[in-house]
Amino acid sequence: MKYRFGFIGTGNMGGAVAKAVCRTAGSAQVLLSNRTPEKAQTLAAQLDCAVGTNEQATTCRYLFLGVKPQGMAALLEELRPLLQQHKPVLVSMAAGLTAAQIEELAGGNLPVMRIMPNTPVGIGCGVVMYCKNALLSPADEQELVQAMRGCGIVDPLEEHLMDAGSALCGCSPAFTDLYMEALADGAVACGIPRAKALRYAAAAVAGAAQLALETSTHPGALKDAVCSPGGSTIQGVRTLENHAFRGAVMEAVITAAGASGALGKK
Ligand SMILES: NC(=O)c1ccc[n+]([C@@H]2O[C@H](COP(=O)([O-])OP(=O)(O)OC[C@H]3O[C@@H](n4cnc5c(N)ncnc54)[C@H](OP(=O)(O)O)[C@@H]3O)[C@@H](O)[C@H]2O)c1
Repeated sequence: MKYRFGFIGTGNMGGAVAKAVCRTAGSAQVLLSNRTPEKAQTLAAQLDCAVGTNEQATTCRYLFLGVKPQGMAALLEELRPLLQQHKPVLVSMAAGLTAAQIEELAGGNLPVMRIMPNTPVGIGCGVVMYCKNALLSPADEQELVQAMRGCGIVDPLEEHLMDAGSALCGCSPAFTDLYMEALADGAVACGIPRAKALRYAAAAVAGAAQLALETSTHPGALKDAVCSPGGSTIQGVRTLENHAFRGAVMEAVITAAGASGALGKK
């Protein structure tokens, strides 16, 4: 049987996107392959989808590439004859590698979508930014966007902005984890038990984000609405400003964007 969606590399991110595609497009359409086959087998058993080899995956209409950027050249070189024979649409999630580089490594003349997902795609609350080469047809783009709907927000972004997008969406879960941990540490210092502090911190962060998304309100306006005159929140805001909180976050995004761009050049 020919599968519609193939995955080569079912680690953290490949596995998370495969989960979402199974949810949206149906497990019967999905084939998984991984260097350590047991990893693909375990995931396939959870998702009720098929397992195969890299070579079999090249026969799928859409081929997701979930290997590390450093491993991409060797993988595509090895599969080049089969890719040129079957002409799948390549979907690369490798940080720092352009759609043109992926196409060239695969031997040229292949449609490519480059995606940049983040870890919350695993629970359907992520962001997938994507760009494409000129060979990707509108129909293929539409089918892929639809298949990835289970990831969360799926949105086009110009390729020259992908490294910045990667820093904003791909790296910020880690930044936010630091923030939540720090919130909880502060609460523990004020006497709240650790487990409760961590749970409340995560819920407060998720709630603030959901409020911004659902009301489409500028975060500055949401912040102003919480800061009553003479109240406690504005004192906390003053403390964060005194410690250059916003400047630190901006620097983190800019540094991560630069590092993401450098990955593809290694
Ligand atoms: N993690 C993130 O937040 C994130 C965000 C955006 C994009 N990405 C991108 O997603 C890609 C994967 O990252 P990751 O964090 O998911 O890494 P990972 O967990 O190490 O997954 C990579 C997987 O690829 C498999 N693999 C390596 N070479 C292979 C080959 N020749 N054939 C078949 N499978 C092979 C590995 O198999 P083994 O089990 O044998 O190691 C592993 O399961 C990277 O390109 C990264 O830039 C990651």
